[in-house]
Amino acid sequence: MKRIAIFASGNGTNAENITHHFNGKEKAGEVALIVCNRSGAGVVERAKRLNVPVALIDKNKMADKEYMLGLLEEHNIDFVVLAGFLMMIPSYLIEEYRDSIINIHPSLLPAYGGKGMYGRHVHEAVVAAGEKETGITIHRVSEECDGGEILFQAKISVTPEMSVEDVEKEIHRLEASHFPAVIERILSN
Ligand code: GAR
Repeated sequence: MKRIAIFASGNGTNAENITHHFNGKEKAGEVALIVCNRSGAGVVERAKRLNVPVALIDKNKMADKEYMLGLLEEHNIDFVVLAGFLMMIPSYLIEEYRDSIINIHPSLLPAYGGKGMYGRHVHEAVVAAGEKETGITIHRVSEECDGGEILFQAKISVTPEMSVEDVEKEIHRLEASHFPAVIERILSN
């Protein structure tokens, strides 16, 4: 069974869905650690409720290869999932987990990816551009921001009546229904 670390900075709905999917069942993986860079983030409370250990980190800890690899080793982490994690991933971590680190992005990459494109900002840009569709992308993490190999995409239609909040809600629904299953498929291969 693969041991998963989820890195998250925000509300943590994806982290919670993934944990519910895996933990306590005979699945290909188990969420063994949640790593967060904001002590007040919703994901910290969720992790406590879910009984998953949390490691709070900051810029200095992230830059410290020995500390971070030590932390992941201490929890025997095989696979890293970025779920709304807003810090850049240093190259030593990408190298160490080369084919075992993935991210979810709330658009159809390469559209609406790159620096500054995260969460609500993505949906604002999609609505402002009058896009007829948007979606989610699950991809491997490479040195290029939002640029790694695409593993999965799913789409929704965007109608002119939809607000940014409507799009965000639909995207979260899409993430909830696909992300855990996609992770399971990757772990089982
Ligand atoms: C998710 O929609 C995820 O796709 C997005 O942040 C949200 C986190 O929600 N990630 C990015 O924008 C990464 N560039 P959550 O904290 O409720 O899981």
